[in-house]
Amino acid sequence: MKNPGNPRTTPAHPGPPDTEGVEHLSPLRGSSTLFTLDPGSAHLNHGSYGAVPVPVQRYQAKLRADMERDPDGFFLEAPDRIGRARAEVATALGGDPGRLALITNVTEGVAIALDTVPLDERDQILVTDHGYGVVTRAAERRAAEAGAVVRCVRISPHAPDDAAVAERVLAAVTPRTKVAVLDLITSPTARTIASPALLAELRSRGIITIVDAAHAPGALPVDLGGAAGGADFWVGNLHKWAFAPRAAAVLAIDRPWRPRVRPLMFSWEHDRGFPWRVEWRGTFDYTPWLAAPAGFDLLKRIGAEQLRDHNDRLAAHGRRMLVERAGLRALPEVPGLGMRAVRLPPGVAEQEHAAKALMVAVRKALNTRIAVRPWQGGGILRISAQLYNRPEEYVRLADGLARLITR
Ligand SMILES: Cc1ncc(COP(=O)(O)O)c(C=O)c1O
Repeated sequence: MKNPGNPRTTPAHPGPPDTEGVEHLSPLRGSSTLFTLDPGSAHLNHGSYGAVPVPVQRYQAKLRADMERDPDGFFLEAPDRIGRARAEVATALGGDPGRLALITNVTEGVAIALDTVPLDERDQILVTDHGYGVVTRAAERRAAEAGAVVRCVRISPHAPDDAAVAERVLAAVTPRTKVAVLDLITSPTARTIASPALLAELRSRGIITIVDAAHAPGALPVDLGGAAGGADFWVGNLHKWAFAPRAAAVLAIDRPWRPRVRPLMFSWEHDRGFPWRVEWRGTFDYTPWLAAPAGFDLLKRIGAEQLRDHNDRLAAHGRRMLVERAGLRALPEVPGLGMRAVRLPPGVAEQEHAAKALMVAVRKALNTRIAVRPWQGGGILRISAQLYNRPEEYVRLADGLARLITR
């Protein structure tokens, strides 16, 4: 029986870990030399900033060396090389190279989408309380400039499934709702908001959708379907789960918006239209984008499906350890994802400073990196699992955490 109770009741000496189903998750061949992470610490937070594998680091270093050997030649050829890199990335995501642009990160992509949609004082932008903080702040800034308002839907982290989430979101739609900014995979809770059914329903009601798919590329099978994954705008990071160097991301835009898209800055490629006008930003280090196909290539060589399965099982094991050994409450999961979230007890990490303090304490006491987000009624802890992680790292976290939060 899982222990759903308060960690304060957790036995001081839990028995040996239940590693059923994960004991065979031994390192995939060569994986120990694939990353340059500090071997003395456990990195259970791939979801925040990713980790760039050595072959991709090397390829990017070579590109940078080319740039320094002949800067003029490099920049003259850069738009064509970016076009080729974009085509490879588009193929990996099931998209069309004319319909997506390479950009630096989701923060930028959401800002472009928000700047492109028309808004006035009659309009509302819908967001949820699972949205990434700065994305919500960007929506608030855009709304304030247009005289519009942001409406934030509160969704229980324990809402059982996509249907329950969709119901909450749709209940908050009003005749004034113009735009919805929704996560494919949420940052604090690692769950889906922008399900295909919800996106289709919002579209049928004439609501413009901006999907924050920061965690999708590489983590889940993505098929943009030649457009924007059922949304008007779809933004995904390549530097989290697709093994690209930082900073690399994609912005996919549905057809009607392409001629209207408003890049954040004007550039020499402006008159060439989308995607060039969004990509070119003058003198800039384009090597993360040019090296992004090497990340997808590595994923393919490892076996994307095999890796996702590995990460999913390891993350599920991690969650089980946190429930069974630290007495934390599991939150709903996205099958096939290398991330899981659990609820901390009431009073723990409810405020930003307390969440940060817990991350620092876990790093100091357990040499482990995790993500903790504040939430009323008990903060939320998110773990990630990647090729370089081992089952025992989650056992150590669970046992140590039980001690830390009962202090
Ligand atoms: C859901 C979500 N959206 C947006 C971001 C921001 O990504 P970036 O800093 O690469 O723009 C993150 C980062 O973790 C995220 O988790």
